[in-house]
Amino acid sequence: MNEHVNRKLHFWDAVWDLQVETCPCDVHFCDWIEKKGLTDASIFHFGTGSHHIVGIRQAENRSNNCVYGITASPGEYDTFVKLAIDRPEVEKTYKAFFGDIYQLEERLLPQFDVVSLFHLCEFRNERNDLYGALTDREVTDMLTHKTRSGGYILFYTKSFAFDTAESTVIKQWEQESSVEKVGMYETLLVYRKK
Ligand SMILES: C[S@@+](CC[C@H](N)C(=O)[O-])C[C@H]1O[C@@H](n2cnc3c(N)ncnc32)[C@H](O)[C@@H]1O
Repeated sequence: MNEHVNRKLHFWDAVWDLQVETCPCDVHFCDWIEKKGLTDASIFHFGTGSHHIVGIRQAENRSNNCVYGITASPGEYDTFVKLAIDRPEVEKTYKAFFGDIYQLEERLLPQFDVVSLFHLCEFRNERNDLYGALTDREVTDMLTHKTRSGGYILFYTKSFAFDTAESTVIKQWEQESSVEKVGMYETLLVYRKK
């Protein structure tokens, strides 16, 4: 019984409202997309929050960008269901799904033009190991594979886990993958797939 309980999905038992002062990554992401003038793009977004600003802003800014966002928080997922019901014009181009990013199934993913990996190394621990989940590097590799040539992969340098992500994942990934560093936009580190 205990073994079964311990092997439950490592979900996030919290809900994150928009806090631009402490965590501006999603706002910077939207600003970057608009500054670059990206249109008709498909975007994968790690960590929707309960505010869903990435999906909402793409729906409101006439870019025709679409967003596939993942949340591991049941409470955040509830807010997506409410959003989808209240605002079908947003739901048309914004789909959020509940799950553990370390359980991503490659066969279910399309190709993306832009991928955010803002919360890399923040949440994965031995609880994910109990059910054989992917590692941070494996998730990064899978989503790099799912990024179109010429597409973008972004990291959040103010994440509390960014130093870990940089030293244990990004440095090696950059050398071993077909990507090039573009540079910084505000708090975001931007790479482009060759
Ligand atoms: C601190 S909140 C940040 C939300 C939003 N990106 C922002 O900056 O406002 C962390 C986000 O990561 C998501 N998250 C945590 N663990 C996850 C996991 N294993 N798989 C997918 N998403 C996860 C949470 O559901 C939440 O949306």
